[in-house]
Amino acid sequence: MKFTRRQILQSAAALSLMPFAARATPQVLEAREAIQRIAPQGFPETKVWSFGGTVPGAPIRVPQGSRVQRRLLNQLPQPTSVHWHGIRIDNAMDGVPGLTQDVVPTGGSFDYDFVVPDAGTYWYHAHNQSMEQVARGLSGPLIVDEANKPDVDQDLTLMLDDWRLDPETALIVGDFDNGHDLSHAGRLGNLVSVNGQFDPMFEVKRHERLRLRLINSSNARIFDVGLEGLSGWIVALDGMPLEAPLPVNEAFPLAPAQRADLIVDVVAEPQGTASLVSFERDGAFGLARFTIGEQNRDQVRQGIDPLPLNPLPELKDIDQAPVHRMVLQGGAMRWLESARIGDAELSGRELAQLGRFWALNGYAERPSDPFLDARLGGVHRIEFVNETVFPHAMHLHGHHFRLVLGDGSLGPWRDTVLVDRAQTRQIALVADNPGDWLLHCHMLGHAASGMMSWYKVS
Ligand code: C2O
Ligand code: CU
Repeated sequence: MKFTRRQILQSAAALSLMPFAARATPQVLEAREAIQRIAPQGFPETKVWSFGGTVPGAPIRVPQGSRVQRRLLNQLPQPTSVHWHGIRIDNAMDGVPGLTQDVVPTGGSFDYDFVVPDAGTYWYHAHNQSMEQVARGLSGPLIVDEANKPDVDQDLTLMLDDWRLDPETALIVGDFDNGHDLSHAGRLGNLVSVNGQFDPMFEVKRHERLRLRLINSSNARIFDVGLEGLSGWIVALDGMPLEAPLPVNEAFPLAPAQRADLIVDVVAEPQGTASLVSFERDGAFGLARFTIGEQNRDQVRQGIDPLPLNPLPELKDIDQAPVHRMVLQGGAMRWLESARIGDAELSGRELAQLGRFWALNGYAERPSDPFLDARLGGVHRIEFVNETVFPHAMHLHGHHFRLVLGDGSLGPWRDTVLVDRAQTRQIALVADNPGDWLLHCHMLGHAASGMMSWYKVS
């Protein structure tokens, strides 16, 4: 075939347009209603809100250091946005309406485009009216693979969620502004799911080694996670590898928004079962079951290597870093006497009428000035002082931090720290990511009723 000049021009034009065209159509992440079986067989299906038609939402899995591009398309009856929880992200992509972007109206879209610097287990969720939208199902896993993966037979993501369903209709109970929930432990449900299913089953072999990526996407439930027929280590928390894997000898807490990566060996007897359980005040219940296949893997592996560390900043000279106290106030039994909203000082009664029950340093809503105004690269400590009688899961956007332990040594890197009732916990961070970042309680009802603040890095 002979090319004419016209054909050559056309193909040249097509070639030069290609990269542009590819960039112009990122993958769509559609926020929309869907129907899913959440409750056990025999109950009706549940109407949920989803990213991409399922709960958990469409899984996102990319290699470390790569770019994630998603066009959020909002087909929900409410405006929304997406926050990429735990990613040390470019501020403009953080997904916080009124701080980093405009809310995305029904029928609207927003292009998210960011690089993932760290390997590990992360998640994404709606960040507008989160208390309702996350409870309706708007969250999904975001897994970033390390270049050298650990030696395991199966890599399972287990997203733990907590639903409040009507026992007759299996519909989500719509009492999101329930003042009792807001002022107490938050919205606790009556059905716990793993990957959107009640009591799911996974096939494993005896002696297999599993990586379990646990993500707590529930509004308020703190799981106390234990293992049966499985034996192993915590290798990462909130995405970040531990320098030394921690053997799981007893149950450990997983607060809302927290993640734990486990590497475990199946040690259950043949015909036996292994399971993931949660211990609650009124007894233990199963989260997921592992059925042991007929065939064994020949041999159980010995020992464990830590995961490769992520490129986190060096935290040094902690004792010279300024300490910023953040007092957690209010809630049932410690009712606020007063707190500020903007410039107004309101009484506890006035606040309760507005559905505000909590405060951070005397503010019952995100204040106009940042809690902390940090120079880029500075090291800071934040001391959470919990004066309430409830635990709170305090989360910083944009940065991971380390716990400062009682003896001054540093604990694991985290993005969400559980501060128990009457407890004081200190954290330290390098403010190396410029922007305006939220700091709030991840019990989403608490965040909506007062526990919301922010800090600035510039
Ligand atoms: Cu996952 Cu502002 O939170
Ligand atoms: Cu809280």
